[in-house]
Amino acid sequence: MEKFVINGGRQLNGEVTISGAKNAAVAIVAATILCDEPVILENCPQISDITFCMKILKSMGADIKLLSKNRVRFDTAGIINPGVPYEMARVMRASSYFLGTLLGRFHEAHVALPGGCDLGDRPIDQHLKAFRALGAQDSIDAGEVHLHADSLVGSLIYFDINSVGATINAMLAAAKADGYTVIENAAKEPHVVDVANFLNSMGADIMGAGTDTIKIRGVKRFRGVEYSVIPDQIEAGTFMVAAAATKGNVLIKNVIPKHLESITANLRKIGVGVEEFDDAIRIYPNGELKKTNIRTMPHPGFPTDMQPQISTLLTLASGASVVTDDIFDNRFRYVNELRRMGADIVVNGKAVIIQGVDRLKGASVMAPDLRAGAALIIAGLAAEGTTEIGDIHYIERGYEDIVGKLSSLGADIKRITIDDFDKEPIKKNA
Ligand code: EPU
Repeated sequence: MEKFVINGGRQLNGEVTISGAKNAAVAIVAATILCDEPVILENCPQISDITFCMKILKSMGADIKLLSKNRVRFDTAGIINPGVPYEMARVMRASSYFLGTLLGRFHEAHVALPGGCDLGDRPIDQHLKAFRALGAQDSIDAGEVHLHADSLVGSLIYFDINSVGATINAMLAAAKADGYTVIENAAKEPHVVDVANFLNSMGADIMGAGTDTIKIRGVKRFRGVEYSVIPDQIEAGTFMVAAAATKGNVLIKNVIPKHLESITANLRKIGVGVEEFDDAIRIYPNGELKKTNIRTMPHPGFPTDMQPQISTLLTLASGASVVTDDIFDNRFRYVNELRRMGADIVVNGKAVIIQGVDRLKGASVMAPDLRAGAALIIAGLAAEGTTEIGDIHYIERGYEDIVGKLSSLGADIKRITIDDFDKEPIKKNA
């Protein structure tokens, strides 16, 4: 078993470079199935969710080569079977993208119901609604989704709710359908746009990604391309908050400031200094941290994937803050862990109520999911004394080399396996 051990209370200072976006890359890697020529991805993050997507592709017959760090060549021509091995599909949410890509290429798909971080109920009814609109029939048997279409035909797809995954899956399947598809009430997240840009670079005809209406004219064949994945909005936001929580001065490079506007605006309200450049953002101390109320919203609103991190920052702000997040049923499982560290934070329905405290104290905590785990790292960096974080495999799903990046900024953080851990007992906090 692995843990992160953090000796907190050190300011983060220096420069850090953001990796490729997890939530774009997981869909783009799955989308390589739609092209029977080799595709090269640049800025492909080295995180376990991507390693896992690659394992799925390899298990189906794809040839994948790491050309250099973050540059990967995919050749999916050898895939002949439109099924993902059950045990591989059920552990991650992004395996649902194999439904759209296999349906697009083979008019057939067999993929286990997706898993992923436990944020409450995560249905796929809107994904299935899109596939049905395009002419597919579906059934679910023993935990596996089966799709079949005699032909895929462009159609009007109206989503009842705003869903990133369903919007991307609809684009993936419709990109090679016969005729014209219109997606209404589409998600507008930067990763939706990046997937559309990737598909267009291979020859797809997709317009309007980033607005709530996406129009797709189906194309028969895609060509191989080289494509660079956009920088990760949430990794950037996590480093922005980590810098703020330690009162540090950090230049965060390889970002798209436009994607960070809602995070930047809220950090400024809290009293954090933020300076924007063309492709970088500097965070610097700018006085006392102040209470703020925040509600998560689909893009361009404040992202649910930043809710645990910003709530953690607000535990150190003066006054009472309320952070509301009703996008998922249960994204507050870090709250009890933060309380172990001395935070004054309670869950009230779909919100957390936070009363700022002067300091957090290190404790032994468990990461309940990816972003909650990132929040606990931030808490550990800001806290007095030593914090141990268990279940770090959640965090490693989505943050490339987080120990190396934080260490380069001056953090005292180590990744320890349980054997090393036994040899190096944790010092008691003063
Ligand atoms: N929903 C349905 N039916 C569906 C699809 C979604 O009811 O068919 C509901 C969900 O239960 C949720 C809401 O719609 O209440 C939004 O879910 P969405 O489909 O947008 O989320 P997702 O595609 O499952 C992606 C990211 C999440 C991120 C959300 C929201 C990936 C692989 N995951 O999930 O990222 O929180 O969008 O922006 O792209 C993370 O990175 O930590 C993470 C959880």
